[in-house]
Amino acid sequence: MAFAGGKVILFGEHAVVHGRPALAAGIALGVEATATEADADRFTVAPWGVDIGPDRDHDLARAFRAALDLHADPNRPRYHVHADVGIPGGAGLGCSAAMGVAVIHALDDARGITRDPRDRGEAAMAWERVFHGNPSGVDNMMAAVGGIAVYHRGHDGSPSTLDPIRVRRSLPLVVAFSGESSSTKEMVSMVTRQYEREPERVGELFDGVASLVRNAKLAIQDGDLRAVGQLMDMNQALLSGLMLSTEKLEAICKVAREAGALGAKLTGAGGGGCAVALCEDTESAERVRAALEPLAPFTRVTETGR
Ligand code: PMV
Repeated sequence: MAFAGGKVILFGEHAVVHGRPALAAGIALGVEATATEADADRFTVAPWGVDIGPDRDHDLARAFRAALDLHADPNRPRYHVHADVGIPGGAGLGCSAAMGVAVIHALDDARGITRDPRDRGEAAMAWERVFHGNPSGVDNMMAAVGGIAVYHRGHDGSPSTLDPIRVRRSLPLVVAFSGESSSTKEMVSMVTRQYEREPERVGELFDGVASLVRNAKLAIQDGDLRAVGQLMDMNQALLSGLMLSTEKLEAICKVAREAGALGAKLTGAGGGGCAVALCEDTESAERVRAALEPLAPFTRVTETGR
């Protein structure tokens, strides 16, 4: 049984695609996968009711093929891989990456192969490309490594970097799915088009996000959650400036703050998907979760960082 967690981007989504750093946190919710020898390669996904072979015309089949191709041996055994998904897909929680990392881990275990978590994250990039076209790599690296880290996408042949942050206090978070799904691929190209049209405005905005990441890293190291919350609110304002927020996400952030959250923002691609709120402690997080429940079809408290 292999498990890989989803992630929330606390700072820096989209800017990370264009070379700025992002600060992300692994969450305890994710995907479990098992691989058992079988007569033919087969991939099943619960609770989605997916049951496919690797040759089907389907993104999950293409991704499965990419995972099987990591073991390029025509005489290898065939596998039935089963994935159990515990987070909503298309919601900004890195569901596809968690699935990719869990599936690769399960196949490695079945074949007796040991792979370093970072290598597993890199290996899952081929899986992520099926769904995201131009992924920064933050989702698959976080699914493989977890914790809280600053991620920098590599460019011009330089490798991407993931620098874990040593935290003084864990971060009690509330994750709330708006119920609106969105396509990361489309949101990334929408922002890229804005950047091409208005390089100065959007470039400055990305630089603003980069300085929030630097300050947030220091605040997290110091255990200053109040400061982290304020920085999250600022990041949300910048994301709204890129037209990534929705009325529903704004309402979730507002209700979360009114219920005591220290800060709240959308997380991931935006245009729907999830919001994340930071709270002082787990009791406060429970109150925020209860306040969000009538608004959001999926709300969970998750503690991250230690
Ligand atoms: O929506 P998600 O969980 O795939 O997160 C996307 C984050 C982006 O920065 C918008 C894209 C990326 O590849 O980093």
